[in-house]
Order: sequence, then C-alpha cells, then structure tokens
Amino acid sequence: MDWDQVWIDLNIATMNPENSEPYGVIRDGVMAVKDDKIVWLGCRSELPEFDVLATPVYRGNGGWVTPGLIDAHTHLIFAGNRANEFEMRLGGASYEEIARAGGGILSTVKATREASEAELFELGRKRLNALAKEGVTTVEIKSGYGLETETELKMLRVARELGKHHHVDVKTTFLGAHAIPPEYKDKCEAYVDLVVDEMLPAVLAENLADAVDVFCENIAFDLPQTQKILAAAKAKGLDIKLHAEQLSNMGGSALAASLGAKSVDHIEYLDEAGVKAIAESGTCATLLPGAFYFLRETKLPPIDLLRQHNVPMVIASDYNPGTSPFCSTLLMLNMGCTLFRLTPEEALAGVTRNAAKALGIESKVGVLKEGMQADFCLWDISSPAELAYSYGRNPLVHVVKDGKLIHQ
Ligand code: NIG
Ligand code: FE
Repeated sequence: MDWDQVWIDLNIATMNPENSEPYGVIRDGVMAVKDDKIVWLGCRSELPEFDVLATPVYRGNGGWVTPGLIDAHTHLIFAGNRANEFEMRLGGASYEEIARAGGGILSTVKATREASEAELFELGRKRLNALAKEGVTTVEIKSGYGLETETELKMLRVARELGKHHHVDVKTTFLGAHAIPPEYKDKCEAYVDLVVDEMLPAVLAENLADAVDVFCENIAFDLPQTQKILAAAKAKGLDIKLHAEQLSNMGGSALAASLGAKSVDHIEYLDEAGVKAIAESGTCATLLPGAFYFLRETKLPPIDLLRQHNVPMVIASDYNPGTSPFCSTLLMLNMGCTLFRLTPEEALAGVTRNAAKALGIESKVGVLKEGMQADFCLWDISSPAELAYSYGRNPLVHVVKDGKLIHQ
C-alpha cells in the first residue's frame, strides 16, 4: 500500500451512520491517509500490508479520534464588545429593549464600520486560532455588522482572507439583513431593496458568499421581507439559511423550508407544524445553546419533536458579542447536553456529521470513512462522551487537516 501516513492504536468515533455502533466506533482502529484523503480505515486486525519503512506511523496511545469539528454558525468578525449591555441586562433590561433603543446589533455595527480590514482580520485570526485549538477544522462566518454595502463586503473579504491564510476552512454567509441600519429607520422596505438590488449583486460579483441568511424576527425582518431576500439568493444559486424563531414564532422556519434552506437556526419558538415543514425539506435544525444560556432564555427548542421527525440537529457556538460571547465549540457540546438534554452522541453529531450537512459539505467532511477529506482530531479521552462532559482541560492532542499534521 502506498500511503503517506498511518495512524494506529486509536479508538475511532467515525460518526458514520452506516456503522451501527454508538458514535460509529471502531475499537483498536487504524487510519491511513494519502494526499488529503482517508484511504483506509478499519480494525487493526484487518490492516493490509504496507511499507512500514517508507510510511510514517503515528500512535494514538489508545486515545480517541473524531472528525474535525465544524462550527456551522458564527459571527466571529466584529469589532468592540458589548459588556456594557451585559451589565444592562443584569440590571433588568431585555435584549429586545436594548435593540429597540438603538443598542444591540447596531452598537457592534458602529464599531465594525469604523474598523479597518486589517484590524478585523487580526481580531478574526485570533478567534479562529481559539476555535482551532479546540479541534475546529471548518467554520462558517457571517457578515451582518456592516448593514451598508461597503462594510458588508469588507467583512466578507476578511472572512475569505482568513480562509486563505488559516488551515481552518471558512464558509461565508452574507447576512446583510441582520438589522435595520439607522440610515433606514422607518424605511425597512427600502433597506430590503438595497440588500437585494445592490448588496447581493456586489457580493456575487466578488464571489464573497457561499450562503445567505436573514434575521427573521419582530425586531428585524418580517416574513415577506425574508421571503424576498431568500428567494433572490436562491435564484442566484446560493445556499440559504435563516435565524428563525429565536424570540417569537414568526413562521420563518416553514418559509425557509419551502425554499429548500440548509438550516434554520435558534428555533426556541418553533412549533410542531414548523418541525414537520423542516423535516419534509431536509432542513437541519441548528441549536445555539450559548445564546439560550446568555439571554437566560427559558423556552426550550422542541428537541423531542425534532427527534421524532428525524431532523438532523446541529450545535454551533453562534459566537458573537451580543448573545453568545463564547469562542468555544467544545463548550457548546456541554451546553447542548446540560441545557437541551441532547445525548453526548447527538451533540458530537451536531458539530460533525450534521454540521457538515448544514453547510452542504457532507460529501467531503463530517464523518470518517474512506474517500473523505482527512480532517480529524486525536483526543486524550477515555470515551467520546468526555468531550461533552468536561470543559476547560483541553484534551486535544493532534489535528490533521487535509492530510497534514497541524502544529499549533
Ligand atoms: O445569532 N439573532 C441575531 N443575531 C445574533 C445576535 C447578534 C448580536 O446581538 O450581535 C444571534 O443571536
Ligand atoms: Fe446568529
């Protein structure tokens, strides 16, 4: 066998649903890599002969291997922070009240408009490093703190640059419809036209986005406005997704499902009809426990209904300065289990297999099997549930990305 590297003495949580063991486990497993692909994976007892002198062999010392983690929902490019609003909320103000008074997303918009591309790149790079140190190999990054063409493009360019200069793969999402900017106060329709007629074509012209997202909520965009933006994006061949049912039940998820959205995100207020709609369209449910926790939300997303209807559940950090200032995908595994009562296996699927589906990259990453991209993590843990159980002692030992051992 002509292989580039072989990993032995591992337990492999393949997350491959074709393997009926919990976590798709292969005990005493071996994985072989050639170029950027996994070319052989199985039990050591079945390992074919290979040239042991010519092939580097790495030992996992009985640790666990998982697919590289995928954080499918972040807003990690922003300037400033909102600790002052945290204090206001602790004093009794609600997220909606702060937003309606011109704070919230708009205060981050002000800081982000003022920041240079280089400053945003540096901020983004540090945050991406923090995620990578916990095993993230693919991340989605949204715009949405510009709310004017120039700054939306600036954010997306920074996201694309980060993807070029970092081993972590970056998928970008245009979220021009994140809030109504001060210049368009009381002129929301005109702002939607700007998003569709000016921003979207400019984003497409520079190939800056893989997907389009909208914040469908009573403090942001209503259903007809959401429909207009998502339909325009879909017509241009972009993936679509939606911030839906976060603070109230607007029917955004059913709309997004009818347009073939990849995911609906947050969804605390999603009802059974909405769950059925996304189940039928194959849309993923992205759960964001960091935002649930930080806003001290009490309404739980409809986890049991999602299970009953076999909706793929994703877990993501939603890393942003307002509702989820947590630059950690691993922490979300614990929060997904403690707050939403996911099983550790569901939580891990939410940052691997299902996250890949939500980003439309499930044919390449998210599970470990022959032919997939060689993106994987080696962890110093004695069972995969440990990843969700404990937080703070980072158990990551090695990351392999595109077949290369990453030194970080
Ligand atoms: O995912 N809900 C809308 N957007 C973000 C919050 C952004 C912010 O407050 O800065 C979210 O929760
Ligand atoms: Fe978000």
